Amino acid sequence: MHIPLLALAATVTAVFAKPLSPTQDDWYTQPSNISDYAPGQTIRSRQLPAQIQPLLPLPVNVSVNAVHQFLHRTTDSLGNAVAAVTTLIEPANADPGKLLAYELYYDTANPNCEPSYTLQYDSDPAGLPGILIRNSTLSPDTAFLAASLNQGWWIATTDYEGLDAQFSAGVISGQATLDGVRVALSEGPKHGLSTEPRYALWGYSGGSIAVGYAAELQPSYAPELSFVGAAAGGNIANLSSTLSTVNQGLFAGLAFGAINGLAKAYPNVSDWLDASLVEDKRAEFTSIASSCLIGEGTAGVLKDIYSFFVNGAASFAEDVPVSIMRIAGQLGVRGTPSMPMYIYKPVHDEISPGDDTDEMVDTYCENGATVEYIRDLAGTHPTLWVTGSANALGWIKDRLDGKEVSNVGSCTRQNVLWSGLNKDTIPLFGEELWSALKWTLGGVLGE
Ligand SMILES: *[C@@H]1O[C@H](CO)[C@@H](O)[C@H](O)[C@H]1NC(C)=O
Ligand SMILES: *[C@@H]1O[C@H](CO)[C@@H](O)[C@H](O)[C@H]1NC(C)=O
Ligand SMILES: *[C@@H]1O[C@H](CO)[C@@H](O)[C@H](O)[C@H]1NC(C)=O
Ligand SMILES: *[C@@H]1O[C@H](CO)[C@@H](O)[C@H](O)[C@H]1NC(C)=O
Ligand SMILES: *[C@@H]1O[C@H](CO)[C@@H](O)[C@H](O)[C@H]1NC(C)=O
Repeated sequence: MHIPLLALAATVTAVFAKPLSPTQDDWYTQPSNISDYAPGQTIRSRQLPAQIQPLLPLPVNVSVNAVHQFLHRTTDSLGNAVAAVTTLIEPANADPGKLLAYELYYDTANPNCEPSYTLQYDSDPAGLPGILIRNSTLSPDTAFLAASLNQGWWIATTDYEGLDAQFSAGVISGQATLDGVRVALSEGPKHGLSTEPRYALWGYSGGSIAVGYAAELQPSYAPELSFVGAAAGGNIANLSSTLSTVNQGLFAGLAFGAINGLAKAYPNVSDWLDASLVEDKRAEFTSIASSCLIGEGTAGVLKDIYSFFVNGAASFAEDVPVSIMRIAGQLGVRGTPSMPMYIYKPVHDEISPGDDTDEMVDTYCENGATVEYIRDLAGTHPTLWVTGSANALGWIKDRLDGKEVSNVGSCTRQNVLWSGLNKDTIPLFGEELWSALKWTLGGVLGE
């Protein structure tokens, strides 16, 4: 039997004040002396109520002991000192020796949809049924964050797009992720984390941008860190081909948010966008491009993004977007991951072509990386999110348990017809969470 969720919500709201959104909350303000801080150094911290926002209007139990947040220094895409926020969560029955940096896909250029806010209990302006409402801030990816907490792992999750939500800008996403781990390692021990935990990275889809760039940049940007591994799925290995793949399809809204995010990261993209938008479609572009994920998805569905640009698709072939796609949206060019990688990807991914991830893995492997690559021949981007992530959870568990990968310095590739629901992995989730995940996919996983 579950306590009816609305009753639970009413009880809890009486105790905790409704959180302020990042644009209203002074705590998020970057200090003027930001460049005096070292990357990963804490600027300020706070402890929040030990409760996180349920992922869906379903009674999924996510029991946490403590939630801490840190505003810390990181480095943006142009090399400037900027601030970012990392949330550190201690689960019930925490194992002090295990830390996972779980990078949520939040896929939006709206700062009020950053996880440090959306994870806070009662943050959704639309209320729990808000999953159906355009400006809902609920993030479905919280499911795997919850599954990870249920393993007893400490979780660090970073607002890796930076304070102003530079969605799809790879460099800041990677650097903020690494600085989020630095802050978790320095601050965590004050709250019960071991001083020398094992730590790993994980992210799917938009989260794989943060994880992929973090893995490539770690040897140069954060050489002192030593990850036991990184799992990245539904990879966005080439942003340029991703934009043309999603265009006019179910996920077309993502392209609007991504362009807006790049314009925040790069002044020349901002100028290009300003000069290239069709005047009478500017307001519609801005509305879609600044929604949270659910609004972006529903308002952008089937839209032709090229129709918003004065030169149509040719606008994207101009020097500025071409240069930025290469700098900010192309994996395999920033460095070779030195940590073991687990990559899982649908060959027929309807968001980002499977070929691009094949190419990324080839590049890593030619350069001596350690990669286990699962190519799913039948799954789709949303189904692999669930089935593939279940197996990724098992891979991360082995790494955090201290088991070494068997393929050090080499690559394995496996073609699977349909990422099996590994019978050993489902119990890791617990029945309730598993049911919720199946529900999010509308039953496509069957029983
Ligand atoms: C930044 O300025 C604040 C306020 O003056 C000061 O308290 C803090 O120590 C400074 N930080 C650094 C790293 O210098
Ligand atoms: C939620 O988890 C806690 C800690 O594991 C447990 O004590 C509690 O009974 C669970 N509640 C439900 C409704 O499953
Ligand atoms: C969300 O949408 C509702 C209904 O349109 C509106 O009343 C509310 O102010 C919006 N909230 C935010 C944070 O945009
Ligand atoms: C990325 O995709 C674009 C558009 O499809 C293509 O022109 C470019 O060559 C790709 N980049 C790499 C490195 O494969
Ligand atoms: C746009 O700006 C970035 C970052 O400053 C720069 O590297 C790139 O070369 C610029 N693109 C063009 C076409 O000037």
